Amino acid sequence: MSTPKRASDTPYAVTVEQGKSYFWCACGLSAKQPFCDGSHKGSEFTPVKYEATDSKEVYFCGCKATQNAPLCDGSHKK
Ligand code: FES
Ligand code: FES
Repeated sequence: MSTPKRASDTPYAVTVEQGKSYFWCACGLSAKQPFCDGSHKGSEFTPVKYEATDSKEVYFCGCKATQNAPLCDGSHKK
């Protein structure tokens, strides 16, 4: 498994809408962080789906090192 690109040193705060699905960029190459824009094609990475059960602000991982994808788990501090 190769290492994803560190897109950001901090998470992305996003206000998600209940019932909507979001596709988090796992490879770090997307120009539309924190979401997938198709740039992973040809790599071993695929986006991670997030289904919003509530309308609220969530923190998507930007460093791509989280163990709780697609959300930040604090790993960016390591
Ligand atoms: Fe990174 Fe799709 S662009 S997973
Ligand atoms: Fe990746 Fe926090 S931004 S774990």
